[in-house]
Amino acid sequence: MNLSHTAFQNIPPSQNESVRAILLQLLAEDLDFHDQASDYASHDFHAFPAKFPPQLPLKFIKALTVPGDVVLDPMLGSGTTLVEAYLTDRRSIGLDIDPLALQIACVKTTPLDPERIAYFSNHILISAVRKVASDQAELAEVLARRWDDNTRDFVGYWFALETQVELLALIQEIEQVDDPLYRAFFGLALSAIIITKSGGVSMAFDLAHTRPHRAKIVIGRNGEIVLGDSLVGSPSRRIQLLTKTLRSPLKEFERRVQRNCESIESLIPGRFAPDIHAGDAQTMPLEDESIDLIVTSPPYASNAIDYMRAHKFSLVWLGRDIAELGDRRRGYIGGESTTDVRFEPLPPRTAAVVEALGHLDPKKGLVLHRYYSEMTRVLREIFRVLKPGKAALVVVGNSVMRGRDTETQQCLAEIGQVLGFDVPAIGLRHLDRDRRMLPAAQVAAMDSQIEQRMLVEYIIGFYKPHPAERS
Ligand SMILES: C[S@@+](CC[C@H](N)C(=O)[O-])C[C@H]1O[C@@H](n2cnc3c(N)ncnc32)[C@H](O)[C@@H]1O
Repeated sequence: MNLSHTAFQNIPPSQNESVRAILLQLLAEDLDFHDQASDYASHDFHAFPAKFPPQLPLKFIKALTVPGDVVLDPMLGSGTTLVEAYLTDRRSIGLDIDPLALQIACVKTTPLDPERIAYFSNHILISAVRKVASDQAELAEVLARRWDDNTRDFVGYWFALETQVELLALIQEIEQVDDPLYRAFFGLALSAIIITKSGGVSMAFDLAHTRPHRAKIVIGRNGEIVLGDSLVGSPSRRIQLLTKTLRSPLKEFERRVQRNCESIESLIPGRFAPDIHAGDAQTMPLEDESIDLIVTSPPYASNAIDYMRAHKFSLVWLGRDIAELGDRRRGYIGGESTTDVRFEPLPPRTAAVVEALGHLDPKKGLVLHRYYSEMTRVLREIFRVLKPGKAALVVVGNSVMRGRDTETQQCLAEIGQVLGFDVPAIGLRHLDRDRRMLPAAQVAAMDSQIEQRMLVEYIIGFYKPHPAERS
């Protein structure tokens, strides 16, 4: 069969055309999408580590579903799959455990009236500017009582006082917006000025893709030294690289709202509103055999990207406290704790990978066993909710633990096969190192040989056979 990508794109899968054959074809095609923009529609509303390019879910949605079909992403992240389902008129369902991911995905798939956004935005900005100019003492007092001690300490460590005052003035106005959809839109714009690769308006660096660390020298907007007085003038290159000049949250917010408002017009109203749930992909609140297509990407093994570590920077402003966020973090797939874990039996190849790592480092072996146990439960649920004759695409990065490749794509394929899936192909894509926010370990070793392998990711094609095909 020699069908080109374009030939396939607009043809809905017919009864005669096997989903399995389409899967084979698509996974052999170019999956890099390096020359294609990924910031159209609402995709660019908020930074998110390890999000996949929108063309990836789009390709499979178009070829494997028709309008009205149900597409699921049980680890929705920033909602890339859901946005593409929305734009192509498919129903969609999304789950995630992360409160910020849920808010990002909701806002990105909710069409709003740009005139109302402009109206609220004017009001928020005018009132916040006025407050900052005239009510400094009152704002400082509210800052002192807004959070419990832990959360207050966290905010005090990572945000300069002048930044805190402006953020508070903004969030107080946002909280007054009576329509929850618009309130969520503005809350997300506030979050987007904090969580950026550069650490946004906070005193942190590397907020969106690796472990945040605080600037050594912080310079205020009027040129005054806010932090690191004793280091000023240091010739050390490290110190120079760790110097940050504060930006005004009020100005950044205004810019961000304007940008997001322009993009929201591409969300045509009247399409299927996605069904978005806070939930665990290991126990999905969904009916058996109810889903036409799944496109998802789980976290890396061994907590390579710690979502909560960055997300708490804005979640504390959106009303959460540090203790609650810490508790929630334990439920993330790929975590490093190995107490109270339900370990699953693993098939031979996967068990051998885990065992080999365990010989080198017993603790890491358990962490990897935890990951493959969690992914066994996710794949079991994916199998349960998928209709027979349909497909799930699972995008995984490659993890290296103690210098060993964890063989994620082969292990997950093996686990899927044991659960009843057919795995006709595993696609490969090369990551664009300039565009994708990668885990710290990947950034650090960018030029080593092992890193060259890590700059790829795999798209595992799982096909759920009809009962008749299984025999
Ligand atoms: C690699 S990201 C997904 C990125 C997404 N494909 C995108 O384009 O934005 C993985 C997501 O899995 C979520 N996650 C982690 N543990 C989970 C669990 N137990 N149930 C559901 N989602 C979970 C994380 O919060 C994160 O949003």
